[in-house]
Amino acid sequence: MSYQIQIPGRIHSGNGSVSRLADIFSRDGVKKALLFTDKGVLSTGIAKSVFDVAASSGVELEVFDGVIAEPSTHDVDRVMQAARSAKADMLIALGGGSVMDTAKLASVLIGATYTVYDLVKDPSLARKTMRAVMIPTTCGTGSEATCNAIVAIPEESTKKGIVNPALIPDEVILDVGMIARLPKAIVAATAVDALAHVVECYTSKKATPLSDTYAIAGARLIFRNIEKAYANGDDLEAKEALLLGAFYGGVAITGSGTTAVHALSYPLGGKYHIAHGVSNAILFAPVMAVNKDSCRERLAELCDAVYPELAISSAETRATHVINRIADIVKNTEIPTSLAKYGITDKDLDFLVEAGSQQQRLLVNNRKELSLDDIRGIYRKVI
Ligand SMILES: NC(=O)c1ccc[n+]([C@@H]2O[C@H](COP(=O)([O-])OP(=O)(O)OC[C@H]3O[C@@H](n4cnc5c(N)ncnc54)[C@H](O)[C@@H]3O)[C@@H](O)[C@H]2O)c1
Ligand SMILES: [Zn+2]
Repeated sequence: MSYQIQIPGRIHSGNGSVSRLADIFSRDGVKKALLFTDKGVLSTGIAKSVFDVAASSGVELEVFDGVIAEPSTHDVDRVMQAARSAKADMLIALGGGSVMDTAKLASVLIGATYTVYDLVKDPSLARKTMRAVMIPTTCGTGSEATCNAIVAIPEESTKKGIVNPALIPDEVILDVGMIARLPKAIVAATAVDALAHVVECYTSKKATPLSDTYAIAGARLIFRNIEKAYANGDDLEAKEALLLGAFYGGVAITGSGTTAVHALSYPLGGKYHIAHGVSNAILFAPVMAVNKDSCRERLAELCDAVYPELAISSAETRATHVINRIADIVKNTEIPTSLAKYGITDKDLDFLVEAGSQQQRLLVNNRKELSLDDIRGIYRKVI
């Protein structure tokens, strides 16, 4: 079997690494850059460091702050209408997955003849038209590492991934300063999303030695630091571990792909607008419990990597420990554990089962083949 993994061209890391933008500008001879961000990020003031580096490097910045959280195809198209005619040498994304996905799409849409609607139908159309630098401000989606951009499709009440190697960013800056003041609830939801990436990638049917390496490294960092970062926002060491773990999760996705947690989560984002990290968190332990029969050894290996002190226990005990830890993390970080809070009831079950079971791009990666009854059982458990 041959296999591969993709990683962005250059990764800069460490507190204050946003200053490396100056090197990037000078190496690439950048005169003007487009900065994609959103109003929530701008209101925190963290963009100042980017503005300062651009000013001291003599680089003109044009700011697009109209990115919508969990963007739909229409939201992306609206931003593209504004950005289409912008002339620049480089694109910078400063934000969470929503901003980075929109900017990644811009990196293949600005100057192109196809639209985002065409890409949803045929992702193979994408060709890179502009170099892109990602600066994540949540901890996080790992979008800074992946060749995916996720968009909501309102007409189908779900979300879809546009996947093409051209979407891999060129440079990534993992600066913990960007998440130092991130609100607790966003730390929790985005870090659990990253944890889902590494656990799903490790237990994916498509896992390879390359994706395993990144998934294990990410799992160690996230399992051990998520509650610390949640409990103490000033614990920058824990937050830096999450930022790195989220990036590793993104790399693992390019090698193996997520599975049923993400698949069943998409209708919850697409129709009920539940934040991506929250809908994953609600489904995470229940899906893994159903998957356990088919993933016991893989979950036990993850346990060995993160909790070596349990290595003498049976595979069943170690696999169960990982699932229990996931459930505890969701509780300890005060993320909802049920869909009831979002007004979802039994009457939504038929829609959820139908829409969830259609997410075959990811369901085919799941080691356990989920029947419609399995899927109904999972949704029913969290209603
Ligand atoms: N492309 C991929 O590989 C991939 C992977 C996972 C998720 N996603 C997508 O990413 C999106 C979710 O991204 P997300 O979870 O990072 O959240 P997000 O980008 O939607 O941001 C959530 C909120 O946090 C705010 N925010 C961001 N950074 C902040 C900061 N430092 N301080 C204060 N507020 C801040 C934003 O303004 C926004 O209101 C979804 O659309 C999801 O489908 C993409
Ligand atoms: Zn995710």
